[in-house]
Amino acid sequence: MGLLGLFVFVFPVLGLILNEAVLSNGGTTSSFVRKVEKTIDMPLDSDVFRVPSGYNAPQQVHITQGDLEGKGVIISWVTQEEPGSNTVLYWSKHDKQKSSAEGKYRTYKFYNYTSGYIHHCTIKNLKFNTKYYYEVGIGNTVRQFWFRTPPKVGPDVPYTFGLIGDLGQSYDSNITLTHYEHNPTKGHALLFVGDLSYADNYPFHDNVRWDTWGRFTERSTAYQPWIWTAGNHELDFVPEIGETVPFKPYTHRYPVPYKASGSTAPFWYSIKRASAYIIVLSSYSAYGKYTPQFKWLEAEFPKVNRSETPWLIVLMHSPWYNSYNYHYMEGETMRVMYEPWFVKYKVDMVFAGHVHAYERSERISNVAYNIVNGVCTPIHDQSAPVYITIGDGGNLEGLATNMTEPQPKYSAYREASFGHAILDIKNRTHAYYSWHRNQDGYAVEADSLWFFNRVWNPMDDSTTASS
Ligand SMILES: [Fe+2]
Repeated sequence: MGLLGLFVFVFPVLGLILNEAVLSNGGTTSSFVRKVEKTIDMPLDSDVFRVPSGYNAPQQVHITQGDLEGKGVIISWVTQEEPGSNTVLYWSKHDKQKSSAEGKYRTYKFYNYTSGYIHHCTIKNLKFNTKYYYEVGIGNTVRQFWFRTPPKVGPDVPYTFGLIGDLGQSYDSNITLTHYEHNPTKGHALLFVGDLSYADNYPFHDNVRWDTWGRFTERSTAYQPWIWTAGNHELDFVPEIGETVPFKPYTHRYPVPYKASGSTAPFWYSIKRASAYIIVLSSYSAYGKYTPQFKWLEAEFPKVNRSETPWLIVLMHSPWYNSYNYHYMEGETMRVMYEPWFVKYKVDMVFAGHVHAYERSERISNVAYNIVNGVCTPIHDQSAPVYITIGDGGNLEGLATNMTEPQPKYSAYREASFGHAILDIKNRTHAYYSWHRNQDGYAVEADSLWFFNRVWNPMDDSTTASS
């Protein structure tokens, strides 16, 4: 390279570096450019919404954890023509005969909509780490599915969680779910951070779109537990048409084992699964001091035994740290209430949705402010969680593309693309996290991070970015 060539090459690069240093102290804003298309819902006659054939065939089959430790499962399904049987038959390959459990069904009305017969059946005391087959629709059209219980709770049990938020039922939602299913690192259970069907975007919150969502997701939800978090699109609070009970469709359709963790409402609860302790919070229930959620969480954190479950994960819908110009600071009042506990108890990671994009924070906290001291800037804090916004499931409202500039220091990586994530817990000390955008091949990681557990690796730096 001649002298002139050197100048031509070096100066723009130097300029870029200087520019970077002057304008931004934050992490990476991805340069990935997504093809701009409108995100629209799949029409009602789409294949993924097809009603299973046969008289009164069970549809919208889904399962979730049914107890505190993973030996229980709640199986749910809907029958349309008549209530039909509440029985679930289940067996493992070691069993000589099928066992049976009895559930219950319920229906609800929402404005001019009447639901089908929504069945829920809790099965408890299963064997850990065992594949079970199950049948529903006994006496009419029988459909068979299977699931695998998690290993017994313990500190070094490897386990892989998927992560999806704000899914909806658009063409992009279908791509997200397909990418999750085809990810070579198979998720065993899915942590869902709220906003399921987006039925409330239709006139009168057309609950038919709750039914289509149940049929669309069945290909995953019937075979592995989805751990539910309530989002704002679960509220369905519409007093102008007489619908004044918040969360009515959601609570009728998606039960959770909240009583097992001493919770008094299905919107906040916790479960243990393998080596993880998962706390689910509600951004849309009262959380101030003295409220039921506050009192429950205050009592909950001291119960977490990191020798039993080294990984402490929190799910919520509205993110506390979000540098997009959407839903900005909506999570702020809950952050002010609860963040000191998250730091004190060394929460490993907080997953949220709501903002339709992806963002990962550094380990930061902002707990010094006391009204008069003016100290209100997030700081690096090795006791703090990593905050991940994963509201990028692909619903009809489209992507959040507009970001605050420059990227704040606390934001490590952000990108306006649809996708899902995988949290692959290896043992008590290491977990590998990866985020996968929908435009890439199934194995491609767009962002990734090794988590070193701070309770068990006290001398190590807590995270190492590899993206
Ligand atoms: Fe939301």
